[in-house]
Amino acid sequence: MFRPFASPRFLRLTHRSLALLGLALLTGCWLDGPQSTFDVQGPVARSQLHLFYVTLWVTAFIFVTVGSVLAYATLRFRARTSADEHAEPPPQSHGNFFVEVGLVSASVLCLVVIAIPTLKAIWFTYDVPAAEKQAAYEITATGSQWWFKFEYPSEQITGVGPLATANELVIPAGRPVQVNLRTLDVVHSFWVPKLAGKVDMIPNRPNHLWLEAERPGYYYGQCAEFCGDSHALMRFRVIALAPAEFAAWLANQKQTGRVVTPGMVAAAQKQPRLMFASWKPGTGPDEALAGSPAFDANPFEAWKEKQVPDPADEDAALIAQGRRLFQEKTCIACHTIRGHEGVGVTGPDLTHVGARTTIAAGVLENTPRRMHEWLADPNHFKPGNKMFNGGFIDPATGRRLINLNNAEINALVAYLQSLK
Ligand code: CUA
Repeated sequence: MFRPFASPRFLRLTHRSLALLGLALLTGCWLDGPQSTFDVQGPVARSQLHLFYVTLWVTAFIFVTVGSVLAYATLRFRARTSADEHAEPPPQSHGNFFVEVGLVSASVLCLVVIAIPTLKAIWFTYDVPAAEKQAAYEITATGSQWWFKFEYPSEQITGVGPLATANELVIPAGRPVQVNLRTLDVVHSFWVPKLAGKVDMIPNRPNHLWLEAERPGYYYGQCAEFCGDSHALMRFRVIALAPAEFAAWLANQKQTGRVVTPGMVAAAQKQPRLMFASWKPGTGPDEALAGSPAFDANPFEAWKEKQVPDPADEDAALIAQGRRLFQEKTCIACHTIRGHEGVGVTGPDLTHVGARTTIAAGVLENTPRRMHEWLADPNHFKPGNKMFNGGFIDPATGRRLINLNNAEINALVAYLQSLK
């Protein structure tokens, strides 16, 4: 009889594809992706990874031991002949004191080997270690559909409250950070795979976690609990900076919204402009959510560049028109721009939105073009988002409340990008 699935060729092919798949999982896609929990960059994630390995090795040991005994018994005592198949079963016995005590003790031992490091890890990850408590930096992260607000309780701004930013959490590197977890609406979950997590943000229940980035860098985070239409699009970034850079960042963030004047632009344009041979306008992939090659290759460098304004590239009149439109189109009702007209708290604080590498909760790279696309059709990138549903249109009637033409969006983008 011909059995195609038992043919040696088919089996060889299957084995090879499985081996290749396993190798791909182990090397490329799995162990060092941007959100890999195997590529740990801080003590909390490292303790979680350590615990994973303890559990993995203990259960692997059990699997191999039980599996080999089973395989031995199956092969050794299999029916070889037709007589074997019809043989009388061997004499049956009941109970064996040493086997029973031995198996129970072995199981208890395995559980204890797992339980001790588990409890240690639970205590360690629960709170900043007492010795470092004094040095810890405090942040309050608030989830809402579908973005993250980050507040800095130790950085109070007179007449405003704590410094607030959105979707890009900037922290000091090499220092424990205590993160208070809150939510405005449903349950969200805070997770930065390379640093720490995940802990839920639960309504009316203050939660917290701590994390530490050992080195300055750019880390990926995301909401890890289903929270509605755009849960998968609720992402964030953590940017860890050396102490001096962190202090400088804080000082700049506390400034009110930047104002670009024609004088600044004229002065900057008097400077000679360098243009390198490799400079090409309009480079970058067109795919729905892709970032530019430079950003994808080195997001941390891209973030640093984003902090520095370039008045030579700015248009003071267009920016002023954008600021006016931000008011007229009622954007101010939901967004704060400190020192300017915006006072709303429903949406992200935009005082320094031009200095972020991403918009729309980490979904799009923050380039003028992307911001234009986002403002033209936010529902396309983040279905169900409240800027569109409730802001741009009335969800009850479907009536359009805010209309923006291309020229108006250009002005808004110029304004928002100027807020460094
Ligand atoms: Cu927020 Cu899922």
